Amino acid sequence: MIRLEGVGKHYPGAARPAVDGIDLLIEEGRTCALIGPSGCGKTTTLRMVNRLIEPSSGRIVVAGRDVTAADPVKLRRGIGYVIQGTGLFPHLSVAGNVATVPRLLGWDRARIAARVDAMLGLVGLDPALFRDRRPASLSGGQRQRVGVARALAADPPVLLMDEPFAAVDPLERGRLQREITEILRRLRKTVILVTHDLDEAIRMGDTVAVMRDGRLVQHDRPDQVLAAPADAFVAEFLGSDRALRRLTLLTAAAACRSGERPPEGAPEVPAEASLQVALSILLGSGAEALAVVDGGPRPVGTLSLAAIRALAAGLPDPSGAVARSPPLV
Ligand SMILES: Nc1ncnc2c1ncn2[C@@H]1O[C@H](COP(=O)(O)OP(=O)(O)O)[C@@H](O)[C@H]1O
Ligand SMILES: [Mg+2]
Repeated sequence: MIRLEGVGKHYPGAARPAVDGIDLLIEEGRTCALIGPSGCGKTTTLRMVNRLIEPSSGRIVVAGRDVTAADPVKLRRGIGYVIQGTGLFPHLSVAGNVATVPRLLGWDRARIAARVDAMLGLVGLDPALFRDRRPASLSGGQRQRVGVARALAADPPVLLMDEPFAAVDPLERGRLQREITEILRRLRKTVILVTHDLDEAIRMGDTVAVMRDGRLVQHDRPDQVLAAPADAFVAEFLGSDRALRRLTLLTAAAACRSGERPPEGAPEVPAEASLQVALSILLGSGAEALAVVDGGPRPVGTLSLAAIRALAAGLPDPSGAVARSPPLV
């Protein structure tokens, strides 16, 4: 759990605070994607959580402890931190980088070696091939994988990530976003992910927190933020295609009327396909409804154009798909 209570940062000499009285609660095991335009205070907020920056006001509680009362060096060993690009030590091997915190914690060699291999495996790097390489010999994506392995090596409950995949090419970025999200959920890490990339925020965040000029303007589930932006600024930041983006968050199975027989000859859509895919099939075929199939003997339900339209707009939908998604914390 991470809790910010009235947290502010006023850099000396600045005309106004970089971060201005933020209240934010991230429940254990959840990822909060912190987004907003450049200069709105995302990095400052993140770095106050591990005390690389001292807050000017407020209180930050991590895993039940007030971080302002903790020794900053010890605190940082219990909080994973992943930054864009060059966070790795260039003179150390991949194994040496991943072993950083376990070494500081005084683990013995055998335990460290085993942990390094396990962490590399976790992030999809074969230890036998990567352990002895230098960061300079890796691709951007591989480097970020090592960065995540290093941050998780001592099994911290909390992970802070600042634009971790910004320097990675788009194809690899998508893969990383999916894989790392899966790992963080499985390990039940509590995460703050700073990004200016809306797709990344939606893909990786259980919740999305939108900042503007040092203030938090909205914190909600991605589908809720997309359906009901708090104000005109958030709506503009999300873009005019936010209704379409919202459709990527729901599956055909979640949105269909289950058990209802589709019309004769209705095109099929796989149960796990997103509503964006379903809409595309509907538009392409001219049909009004789809048969949602999961490989079983009969369709699992019917998905109508009207239902998709309602969900995209954030209206109450007859199937209750949005109401069934996990409650916001
Ligand atoms: N060390 C610093 N000293 C003074 N001002 C800073 C410092 N770091 C950031 N700022 C200012 O604080 C504001 C927020 O910066 P930052 O937290 O880096 O925003 P973001 O990560 O959202 O781009 C900006 O106006 C920036 O210029
Ligand atoms: Mg930043």
